[in-house]
Amino acid sequence: MGKEVNIDKVIRQHLEMEQFFSGFSLKSTAGTPEPQQQKEDDMTAAQKAAELEKIAAEVNKCRECDLGSTRTNAVPGEGNPNARIMFVGEGPGADEDAQGRPFVGRAGQLLDKIIAACGLKRSDVYIGNILKCRPPGNRDPRADEIINCLPYLQRQIEIISPEIIVALGAHAARTLLNTTKPIGQLRGQFLDYYTGIDKPPTKLMATYHPAYLLRNYSPDNRRKVWEDMQKVLTELGLPIPERQTG
Ligand code: URA
Repeated sequence: MGKEVNIDKVIRQHLEMEQFFSGFSLKSTAGTPEPQQQKEDDMTAAQKAAELEKIAAEVNKCRECDLGSTRTNAVPGEGNPNARIMFVGEGPGADEDAQGRPFVGRAGQLLDKIIAACGLKRSDVYIGNILKCRPPGNRDPRADEIINCLPYLQRQIEIISPEIIVALGAHAARTLLNTTKPIGQLRGQFLDYYTGIDKPPTKLMATYHPAYLLRNYSPDNRRKVWEDMQKVLTELGLPIPERQTG
């Protein structure tokens, strides 16, 4: 006999998780650096946007693997071309496939809350994925699919040139770090993502995927994600919102 699921408990846990990331605010915004304030780049935001558009057009036509014929829409990624933080997930799910936009389903709603808890807006950051097309039935990405698709993300990272990449979940973290280590060992510390041999590495913070948080609710897991994000904010010199009481 399977273990009985206590629906009330599951609903309460999900609500608690979502409320947790809704409960932060900045004490005062006076003197607070703007999220984009410290970024210096060779390309203007308009040039970056144009290059990202070119990649999106290629992704939308891509038939490098079978996912090109099973998808409804490709999901190239979206956000601020000049973002200081770039979130990278695994690949589109059903909602993303239907809309052609990243992180718009339940996991996306939680990611939005995490971004807001950081005192940021979705439009401050860039959100992309390892795979640009949905694997049928949300199965794990296959190695050949990752190999075909990764160059799009690598080019996006080079153009955006974020100060920090936040890799959401094991697939994103392992792919970008070229390792098979478990996410529990990768998260919580800054690691190096390399764009090329002759280029300085970009700092990468791995953390748990929002979908994992929704499936594996525990105060410990959500605390770990919040701690990882606080390290990102501190590294960027951005203020850490405080939890509202009462
Ligand atoms: N999960 C992901 O990894 N990416 C999305 O875009 C949505 C859900």
